[in-house]
Amino acid sequence: MSCYVVRVDAQTPNSDAILRAARILQSGGLVAFPTETVYGLGANALDPEAVGRIFTAKGRPAQNPIIVHVATTDDAKKLASAWPDQAELLANHFWPGPLTLVLPKQACVPDLVTAGGPTVALRIPAHPVALALLRACGLPVAAPSANRSTELSPTCAEHVLNSLTDQIDLLLDGGQTTGGLESTVLDLAADRPRLLRPGLVTVAALEALLGPIDHVRHENAEPLRSPGQMRRHYAPQTPLEITMHSRERVEELCTQGLRVGWLNHLDEGEAGAVRVVLPADAIGYSAGLYAALHQLDAVELDRIVVEMPPGGDDWMAVRDRLQRAAQE
Ligand code: TXA
Ligand code: MG
Repeated sequence: MSCYVVRVDAQTPNSDAILRAARILQSGGLVAFPTETVYGLGANALDPEAVGRIFTAKGRPAQNPIIVHVATTDDAKKLASAWPDQAELLANHFWPGPLTLVLPKQACVPDLVTAGGPTVALRIPAHPVALALLRACGLPVAAPSANRSTELSPTCAEHVLNSLTDQIDLLLDGGQTTGGLESTVLDLAADRPRLLRPGLVTVAALEALLGPIDHVRHENAEPLRSPGQMRRHYAPQTPLEITMHSRERVEELCTQGLRVGWLNHLDEGEAGAVRVVLPADAIGYSAGLYAALHQLDAVELDRIVVEMPPGGDDWMAVRDRLQRAAQE
């Protein structure tokens, strides 16, 4: 089976393409589609057989639950058995957008989607293609990032094809995603809101609405955990290290005869490495990070050296993904 790729305009997608993708979802197939964060690999969330195909395609461990994407807050409420005031507040403020809310699940949500757990992760994506697809199929769509498990998430159609090819029935190619990092995952099923994965919605933005939320604040802590999430995740094939004074490190490795990729947000000139300079602001850096890592990974390199990104709340998701990518 080969993957059918349909190019769609990111702002005003062609309705024939969307209808075709919607029919595939309705009949139990897999559709890869852009969201504002990364590309997702979608299936009918209410059909365990279809969701099972996602796990097979990604090589995803069964204990890792999947986010369910919906078109409206009312659709989200149908899948949650409780809808606390905080959910209402956050949904009104951030949806459609890169915030995933974990809530107690309704019985209709298959165990496979939630990895057997009592909660379901829900979000409305802020991308015209994703929204058009959700509306057209009339179904909740379970969709993890459209890459093989533990690998880098895809921010364009080419990344998806490089990672998954045969197992997708249709790929809606809407160009580059704008956000570039995955959604923030917030657990509202516990006593206090708990951050499970930092993302494009910052802790400061959440706390401005909710007051203090539980999360790991210090830099050297274990990466934040969601059930089933591996320490090494979001990782390129090439070994990656994060360091301060990356220029010195790059020069040292080059002197040893290693082929080095150098990812930096400070333009510090050449150093004999394959160099990618990302914007020095967190939003611009996030948007370009995975594309830069995909690009460096495609070159034959022995090592990728990353200049330590700044501290501060708005860089938290970037630091989290880099720390995971650097795990051996
Ligand atoms: O931006 C995103 O979130 C992208 C796009 C496609 O929406 N999706 C994405 O999915 O990153 P995935 O599967 O790669 O990551 C989902 C994360 C995992 O860390 C998973 O453990 C967590 O969400 N998760 C899903 N369901 C959960 C649940 N019921 N309880 C706790 N964590 C959950
Ligand atoms: Mg993923």
